[in-house]
Amino acid sequence: MSTGAVGRAYPRLEGREKVTGTARYAVEYPVDDVTYGWAVPAAVVRGRITRFDTAAALALPGVLDVLHHGNAPRLAPAPEPELWLLQEPVVHYRGQLIAVVVATSIEAAREGARLVRIDYDTGAHSTVLTADHPGLYRPDHVNPSYPTDTAEGDFDAGYAAAPVRIDHVYRTPAYHNNPMEPHATTAQWRDGRLLVHDSNQGAAPVQATLAEMFEVPRDAVRVVAEHVGGGFGSKGYAKAAVVLAALAARQVDRPVRLTLTRQQLFGPVGYRTPTIQRVRLAADADGRLTAICHDAISQTSTLREFTEQTAVYTRSMYAAPHRRTTHRVVRLDVPTPFWMRAPGECPGAYALESAMDELAIAVGIDPVELRIRNDPAVDPDLGQPFSSRNLVACLREGARRFGWADRDPTPRARRDGRWLIGTGVAGASYPARARAADAAVTARPDGVFLLRIDATDIGTGARTALWQVAADALGVPPERVEIRIGDSDLPPAGIAGGSMGTASWSWAVIRACAALREKLRNVPGGVPTDGEVTAEASTADEVREQAQLPRYAYGAQFAEVRVDTDTGEVRMTRMLGVFAAGRVVNPTTARSQLIGGMTMGISMALHEEGVLDERYGDWVNHDLATYHITGCADVERIDAYWIDEQDAELNPAGVKGIGEIGIVGAAAAIANAVHHATGVRVRDLPIRLEKLLPAMA
Ligand code: MOS
Repeated sequence: MSTGAVGRAYPRLEGREKVTGTARYAVEYPVDDVTYGWAVPAAVVRGRITRFDTAAALALPGVLDVLHHGNAPRLAPAPEPELWLLQEPVVHYRGQLIAVVVATSIEAAREGARLVRIDYDTGAHSTVLTADHPGLYRPDHVNPSYPTDTAEGDFDAGYAAAPVRIDHVYRTPAYHNNPMEPHATTAQWRDGRLLVHDSNQGAAPVQATLAEMFEVPRDAVRVVAEHVGGGFGSKGYAKAAVVLAALAARQVDRPVRLTLTRQQLFGPVGYRTPTIQRVRLAADADGRLTAICHDAISQTSTLREFTEQTAVYTRSMYAAPHRRTTHRVVRLDVPTPFWMRAPGECPGAYALESAMDELAIAVGIDPVELRIRNDPAVDPDLGQPFSSRNLVACLREGARRFGWADRDPTPRARRDGRWLIGTGVAGASYPARARAADAAVTARPDGVFLLRIDATDIGTGARTALWQVAADALGVPPERVEIRIGDSDLPPAGIAGGSMGTASWSWAVIRACAALREKLRNVPGGVPTDGEVTAEASTADEVREQAQLPRYAYGAQFAEVRVDTDTGEVRMTRMLGVFAAGRVVNPTTARSQLIGGMTMGISMALHEEGVLDERYGDWVNHDLATYHITGCADVERIDAYWIDEQDAELNPAGVKGIGEIGIVGAAAAIANAVHHATGVRVRDLPIRLEKLLPAMA
């Protein structure tokens, strides 16, 4: 008996607390006797630390200690080598955090960090990704566990025989996650137990990592992440801030607050690897693809292999009898790349959806029609029918809303004063997965139902969505539901990542609520009178036994840009996305996720770029003044819509996840629009003035 809560545009439950400043983030909890940690980055790319001179720092009033490899508490080997901090005098990349100053004030900690003197022995380094780097190799798999290469048919023969061929290399630079709240932690040890308030995308994995590294039982570690100011993947697992804070708190035997600085986010917490992607497409004269090949190159660190699944997008997006995808990676003296919104799909779609636009022009077919013509009936990779696939519906609905029908495909055909105007389109897809989760729900005599689940709301609206799902599953008005999330003491439920949060958590919530209703079946009014009644559920078995099917969300991205013929400046006039993502739980928060992803795509296309200086082996732009991110004034009109989609093969809530689909294809739509406006095809992002200016004369 649904109460109609799912599908309604409720405001965020914690909205008032957030805008009034009472919602507490990781370093905002009042803590007695608290101290402050400030991390010190390595100033060389590669080498050995030969000396730490901490005398001046220690002499500063307020400074309690300086931790480094020579004196820090010992850690068990970390599941991720990047986290094995302050354990050895080795520098693997510039900016690696190699010391922590702890002081009674944040100012003293910062000044102390400035006073630490470090000497190094250094060696030659390699930090630039090139297509012919001698260190390129074929990894055993790509993230998270996809095959490295795939092949079907005979690409080379199919390509050679086709009347229309496209062969281009597309490049994307390093991109850096910049959540508003940086990685931040308050750590407290008491009687051998560790309590951390930490900014992350999932408390339980952080708890597990800390327990392993500090060699304490898992239940001796509690991780609280009640409110999180963004993550985009960079907070998917434990990162440097929480390890350093816990080390420092143990050393000084007082609570420690440690926040990474904005500059320290550019590397130590991961970033989207630069990519070099060669895409070859062949088609018949009607635009039907006969051969597709996508070869992707990316980088990883000397610490760990992390291979972005860049070409995976191409495996299932469009059909052709002859297909091949490959990934190669090289270990450089750089920080380990990590997740950033739609890892793999996002850079991969930029390349493939740009190449599709180039193919549309080569065969003289409208780019919307070209995609419709190549929409596969079954998953080209698995050969199975999709649980649902509504790319074509998204393209048609998007074209209608955007006013695509009258488009003159000729580049430079539209002009308004000194502005050239162009439009572009791209497809989008992102896997719709779910992982196992637990949840518990308690009926109280006061008629309130308390839902407990270790979900994380990183700003997405997940808390509100689960509250709506619970209300419907319990058959009560949402006002009678309370929810607690973001704490490793709650039933474990997996991270907010991979666009899996709402799908996975809702599943467990619905099962727990059904179990509770069963328990209360004979209770009048469904409310216990003497004491609480609790039901718990785990979806582990159900998720494991779910049929293996290709499940994806889809989208169509449309962009209109104008380009200044005097300066080459690109302005985003309007952007429209239409998505097919299963059931939408909350239209307000869903729209925010979708236009947020699209805005990150604008940022990827036009603004963001990690500019590497090989002499220093580091990005020279590592703050918000020099690393440009799209702001409100850069987004003139942006809209997201979704089609009504019922998919019974997903999960009980029928949701596909919307955190990542919004960024996929967005950069390609803009690059395609820029080509339409100017006739210039930019194949290396971002699209900057100097790449367009030569053609403006
Ligand atoms: Mo997202 S990159 O899966 O946190």
